[in-house]
Amino acid sequence: MTAAATTPSEPDVLLSVEGLQVHFPITRGVLLDRVVGHVHAVDGVDLAVRRGETYGLVGESGCGKSTLGRGILRLVEPTGGRVVFDGTDLSTLKGEGLRTARRRMQMVFQDPLSSLDPRQSVESLLTEGMKAHGLHPGPGQRHARLRSLLSSVGLPTTALSKYPHEFSGGQRQRIGIARALTVEPDLLVADEPVSALDVSVQAQVLNLLEDLQAELGLTYLVIAHDLAVVRHISDRIGVMYLGGLVEEAPAGELYREPLHPYTRALLSAVPVPDPVVEDSRQQILLAGDLPSPADPPTGCRFHTRCPWKQPTRCDTERPQLRVLDGVDSGHPVPAGHTVACHHAERILSGELQPHAVVAEATDPAELQLREVPDGPGSVNEVV
Ligand SMILES: Nc1ncnc2c1ncn2[C@@H]1O[C@H](COP(=O)(O)OP(=O)(O)O)[C@@H](O)[C@H]1O
Ligand code: SF4
Ligand SMILES: [Mg+2]
Repeated sequence: MTAAATTPSEPDVLLSVEGLQVHFPITRGVLLDRVVGHVHAVDGVDLAVRRGETYGLVGESGCGKSTLGRGILRLVEPTGGRVVFDGTDLSTLKGEGLRTARRRMQMVFQDPLSSLDPRQSVESLLTEGMKAHGLHPGPGQRHARLRSLLSSVGLPTTALSKYPHEFSGGQRQRIGIARALTVEPDLLVADEPVSALDVSVQAQVLNLLEDLQAELGLTYLVIAHDLAVVRHISDRIGVMYLGGLVEEAPAGELYREPLHPYTRALLSAVPVPDPVVEDSRQQILLAGDLPSPADPPTGCRFHTRCPWKQPTRCDTERPQLRVLDGVDSGHPVPAGHTVACHHAERILSGELQPHAVVAEATDPAELQLREVPDGPGSVNEVV
């Protein structure tokens, strides 16, 4: 690490993402490819992950979560912005410096079967990373290290000679986690780590991640499209919509008082165990599909689906994440809760009420809309 590459940052921040953009070119042409546009998969994301915490990133499929995770690890080259890891701007690193930084940041993938080479035994899978990073212990210590790794993820030593297809989905994910741990990382980016697993197994793998964090002092960025997955594991949560963060808050606070209309809609779809509360709840059903990141809406990217959209600013000015201004005394909002909505104060106070939204469908035949009357919580339903 060179002095020039070191950036002062808050001492407890391990990972800081500043204005990160990842745009993919769209090309057309018969003989020569021409760039005819860009997919704005990640389009100006700021976030900070503190040492030892779990930051949960949620949003519907296609909003750019995986691309953000990959951009942070430089598995895909960012178009703009910076990623600062432990005080070092990653874009200033090359060669050995980049390799070391990469070792300290490991990824756990959604589908362990496709991320684990089926021709390699578990022993070979687990020693590969150690060898690559010069952490390969001598033969005597190697088995002790592998046994301890397997026991920390709850697998028997007999697993070493087996192959990925011989395990269940949950066990394979345990191997994926063990493999990430072989190189002694500080940060794990877990991209939909339990989405491919049965619900009963999901909880076991999430518990394992929590135990490992306590034992090894790891920092996590956990990505999921399912709010229930990040809810219990996260200290703080960021909600992503079409390439940008729209809300960030401590986990409990986000569920207690969601401020952004999109977060409200996401949470209103999560069932509540109490039948009385469940029956009295108002569901906010979003009209239409996620717009294309190749042609994102102007202004607030959520304006085409927002039940609180206003005639001013919403479709002309992109809102930035901010703390609420002069919040009504009945609704105290703690520090660290930020929202990207021009009208969040008036939505929170109840001054603005939701209204019907007409979905903008490219092909009207694809989308049938059922009108429901205006009123709190009642918006158009897509049927
Ligand atoms: N390599 C790529 N080339 C072009 N477009 C891509 C590429 N990877 C992802 N995208 C597009 O970027 C958008 C975000 O994708 P992704 O990050 O996978 O979302 P998520 O993980 O939230 O489901 C999607 O529209 C996807 O089609
Ligand atoms: S800025 Fe406007 S369109 Fe965007 S979330 Fe707020 S009210 Fe809705
Ligand atoms: Mg994804």
